[in-house]
Amino acid sequence: MTDTAHGAQQTAAAFRAVYGAEPTGIWAAPGRVNLIGEHTDYNDGFVMPLALPHTTLAAAAPRTDGVLRLHSAGADGGVVELRLDELRPPSAGAGWAAYPAGVAWAMRAAGLPVGGADLHYTSTVPLGAGLSSSAALEVATALALDDLHGLGLPREELARLAQRAENAFVGVPCGIMDQTAAACCTAGHALFLDTRDLTRRHVPFDLAAEGLCLLVVDTRVRHQLGDGAYAERRAGCERGARALGVCALRDVPYAHLSAALDTLAGDPVVQALVRHIVTENHRVEQTVAHLDAGHPRAIGPLLTAGHASLRDDFKISCAELDLAVDTARAAGALGARMTGGGFGGSALVLVDQDATPAVTEALYAAFAAAGHTAPRIFPAVPGPGAHRLAV
Ligand code: GLA
Repeated sequence: MTDTAHGAQQTAAAFRAVYGAEPTGIWAAPGRVNLIGEHTDYNDGFVMPLALPHTTLAAAAPRTDGVLRLHSAGADGGVVELRLDELRPPSAGAGWAAYPAGVAWAMRAAGLPVGGADLHYTSTVPLGAGLSSSAALEVATALALDDLHGLGLPREELARLAQRAENAFVGVPCGIMDQTAAACCTAGHALFLDTRDLTRRHVPFDLAAEGLCLLVVDTRVRHQLGDGAYAERRAGCERGARALGVCALRDVPYAHLSAALDTLAGDPVVQALVRHIVTENHRVEQTVAHLDAGHPRAIGPLLTAGHASLRDDFKISCAELDLAVDTARAAGALGARMTGGGFGGSALVLVDQDATPAVTEALYAAFAAAGHTAPRIFPAVPGPGAHRLAV
């Protein structure tokens, strides 16, 4: 039995224990790592996430009384019971249940015929590790409600509804990358996504075939997107776009970067934010070109340059992320960078398979020597996007 099938059976059994009835089905949505394209999504730019094998499972059954009941194996506090017609944004302080409740609210606010349901969740996506546990929870919920009500919504619509839940109901001003990754990724591929219109291409990403490995290094520094620094960066980017007279920073071509920076000379903070976004979009395009040409090793320096840009221009790295990147490179990695929202969370390391043990050991040793909690290190092999499981 696979891990997922095992998890599905356990999740179904837990649903029965909590609600005393059979679930109608079980839906899975993955966490993600972003290969490259950081903070570009709320600038209408390019991103390139891949789905992790770590998933959130939602066992669900419909109800006819307009009540939403939510229970999570990972949270204290028992069953959360809400009336759908009483859901109002923003959900100040509702904890983890705000994410699935927000999805039900967003679907109903969009005029979709979503009724009550019982849901039970289990998850293997690490929390607060910058691996999009929230988007996995939202998208598992959106797909479950979509299926339970026979809506058949397109994947990008599920992603948009999940993002709306997080923006308007939970109150986190995130972009669309994480929800689209959870909804749309496919196994064995990275997702090249244009966040302006959600056009996307699945780019084959079989590093093992090239003797390579992509490691995730969870620094265990818990990041929190709701704390204002993310919103500050977003507002700064919007200020930059206004000053440059464009709709979004995506509209500043790489070839016009130095002219744009001259225009922003009076505002060095915004200037640095703009430099990151414009160069990062360019790095995503270069990454895709290297992968299309069958040269995955060539993306190493782009990852490392992306980290420097996030550290120095966007200013969202931290000591543990910098240590992970510097240590991995010194131990022979081809490239490394922080991934996700920043201020903690995880780093990515591209490494030759042969060098993986040495790099891993060097990371453990460096964290121990610096007095940091030991990182959690695992290989990222691209898994499937959200799907229904056989019970
Ligand atoms: C978080 C947000 C995403 C994106 C990344 C940074 O994960 O949820 O929308 O902005 O940060 O790339």
